[in-house]
Amino acid sequence: MNTELVDSEYARGTALDYYDGPDIVDRLIEALREAGLDPDALDIDDLAPLDEFHALGRAATLALADLAGLQPDDRVLDIGAGIGGPARWLAARHGAHVTALDATPRFCRAAELLTRGAGLAERVQIVCGDALALPFADASFDLAWTQAVSQNIADKRRFVTELARVVRPGGQVALFEVVAGPGGSLEFPVPWADREEQSWLVTADELHELLDSGPLSVVAWKEGQAALDAIASAAQSLQTPPADHPLGLHILMPDFEARMAGLARNVAQHRIALVQAVARRRD
Ligand SMILES: C[S@@+](CC[C@H](N)C(=O)[O-])C[C@H]1O[C@@H](n2cnc3c(N)ncnc32)[C@H](O)[C@@H]1O
Repeated sequence: MNTELVDSEYARGTALDYYDGPDIVDRLIEALREAGLDPDALDIDDLAPLDEFHALGRAATLALADLAGLQPDDRVLDIGAGIGGPARWLAARHGAHVTALDATPRFCRAAELLTRGAGLAERVQIVCGDALALPFADASFDLAWTQAVSQNIADKRRFVTELARVVRPGGQVALFEVVAGPGGSLEFPVPWADREEQSWLVTADELHELLDSGPLSVVAWKEGQAALDAIASAAQSLQTPPADHPLGLHILMPDFEARMAGLARNVAQHRIALVQAVARRRD
């Protein structure tokens, strides 16, 4: 596996600067040991507080998999996969074959470590690459999946065109994304940006229009409270990790508490909202 990102126009942009930083593999191994875990024999349930780099954690992944009707042996491409937590979940609990692509090399290296440690290397392939130039042939996947990524991508039409291109006719695109709300412009920091030029939010209507165009038709859509309700319902089947768990997203990003507080404030002030969507590619 190549964990260095192929040079691309996007890779030189400001959004990826936000995710860049020191390598995290050694820190991760240390944190796993502190949590009493063996980095070579991991259980994905133990990784939950660290593994889901988006609002509302693993329950959001579970709810989106339900909305998309994910089937065992589906070929899934997770775009902007972070350290691969959702990909490992979809492989281990839903029986999917997942390719986890991310543009941040240090996240790809962490994804590789955790996937190998969880014994999932046969079902989850890590690829370091750009969502705007996906290194896959047309119609290679049953499902293109993405969570908390579009907010870092300015050219959303190209993003959606790439998602649609790599799914087979009749296949689906599933998203869980942050959109702009009616409450005014974003207050920083948030978990995906420190400043305005790292964040590109569209409204829910704009996202819907993008997903319901070209070869795609929206087949499922949950916005705002409807999305929150679906995720709360999914959460009932999961254990909630204790707040003082030694593993967490602070290992990936500095000042994570301040960023999460910023997220909560923006949600409470209706500056942002959450959308779950599934679009199907026409034959
Ligand atoms: C907030 S994290 C979400 C990670 C993962 N989807 C999850 O939910 O756990 C956003 C991720 O998108 C990745 N990303 C942003 N722009 C990208 C692009 N153009 N191509 C690939 N990955 C990208 C970042 O490197 C980061 O890992």
